[in-house]
Amino acid sequence: MRLTVIGTGYVGAVHAACMADIGHEVLGVDVDAERTAALAAGRPPFFEPALGGTLQRVVDSGRLRFTTSTAEACRFADTHFVCVGTPQLPGSGAADLRHVEAVVDGLAAHLADAGDQPDQPVLVVGKSTVPVGTADMLARRLGRAADVAWNPEFLREGCAVQDTLRPERIVAGVRTPTAEARLREIYAPLTAAGAPFIVTDPATAELVKLASNSFLATKVSFINAMAEICDATGADVLTLAEAMGADSRIGPRFLAPGLGFGGSCLPKDIRAFTARAEELGLGESVAFLRQVDEINTRQRRRTVELAERLVGGSFADRGVAVLGAAFKPRSDDVRDSPALAVAEAVRRRGAEVRVHDPEAVDNARAAYPALQFALDVNKTCEQADIVLHLTEWPQYRDLDPAALATVVRTPVIVDARHSLDPQAWRAAGWTLRAPGRPRLGGN
Ligand code: UDX
Repeated sequence: MRLTVIGTGYVGAVHAACMADIGHEVLGVDVDAERTAALAAGRPPFFEPALGGTLQRVVDSGRLRFTTSTAEACRFADTHFVCVGTPQLPGSGAADLRHVEAVVDGLAAHLADAGDQPDQPVLVVGKSTVPVGTADMLARRLGRAADVAWNPEFLREGCAVQDTLRPERIVAGVRTPTAEARLREIYAPLTAAGAPFIVTDPATAELVKLASNSFLATKVSFINAMAEICDATGADVLTLAEAMGADSRIGPRFLAPGLGFGGSCLPKDIRAFTARAEELGLGESVAFLRQVDEINTRQRRRTVELAERLVGGSFADRGVAVLGAAFKPRSDDVRDSPALAVAEAVRRRGAEVRVHDPEAVDNARAAYPALQFALDVNKTCEQADIVLHLTEWPQYRDLDPAALATVVRTPVIVDARHSLDPQAWRAAGWTLRAPGRPRLGGN
């Protein structure tokens, strides 16, 4: 089948490459000519394992091409996936629908101009995360020019290709049987391989995405709230999480305590969901999400305060080494990165901060120009009074604590991600602290 993918950011680039990979003829559309040129040359504009190989293959095969022209998109296909961003509006935290509206208005204008009758009804399929009711609003905007469906994505950065090709569910929010049939046909190779296909109305589809991310965020904040209780009572949050997670009704995933969630989705989505619910007069129904957000940001503050206590009560003239800048390992994404928020807060309190990350240094430097960065762990930790382990890259787990102890000024480390082996670090002479594990030493 022929389809376009409009917006070639994270979601769009992955969706376009994967749709071409399962056999469709795909045209990727973006206003950014530099981005489309890079993609057309098979180069992903961000770090995502497995995307490079897939992209190169489908570009070479001719099944995926790119353009900046909406007119060309309208000539090319009758199915258009909308994958543009819905950033957070300052103040209210509501979703900014400007880009989605611009795409739909652009399509409407060209469809009206095109004059000639399309072979089949035009279908606009939204994948962007949007407030409930957006599909209906867009359908009104498009009028008779096109039908609208919603088909949220659930991909995780770092496993985006795998999540797209082997999804745990495909949700199709449709208004017509034609739209359902078209989406079934597009996703047939994935459903044949076992992916459940859930058909619903657009409002439910929009809500599935927000409700799922809110639930995941709540799970993370729940265990982080328990870590606070553990710190005050002498209990151990890792054992607590293991025992809770063994209950199959709860499950172990998204129950890892630590510095909390960041990234481009969870923090923004719970805020946008809260803003939309308040708009609908239903603020009370999701009031707990404000707490989820507060618990989450509190973990950053608690880490800063713990580190400050460990360096003797003040960061003035203290060297702080930060391991990790990306919001999570295997990603170069620093959007709402808990690690960088902590690094910047520590810098503002007067410390000399040096940050290391295997992939995200360029993005981190652009976002936090006042921080210093090093490309080597030893260089980062040289003369440090404390090391803060803030993003759990696998290579940090493999560090040699004895060797690193000879580099720092004082062998003190906060493992805010619970991925270092406390025994090994302590045996090498380190003081190691981890949130929610007071028995390692008073937090
Ligand atoms: C998330 C959702 O998982 C995905 O379905 C959605 O489409 C987009 O948002 P992503 O932001 O890529 O994906 O990251 P994810 O792997 O889900 O992690 C989110 C954040 O939660 C990270 O900062 C991670 O460090 C944190 N996290 C996750 C925890 O702190 N503890 C956990 O147990 C799990």
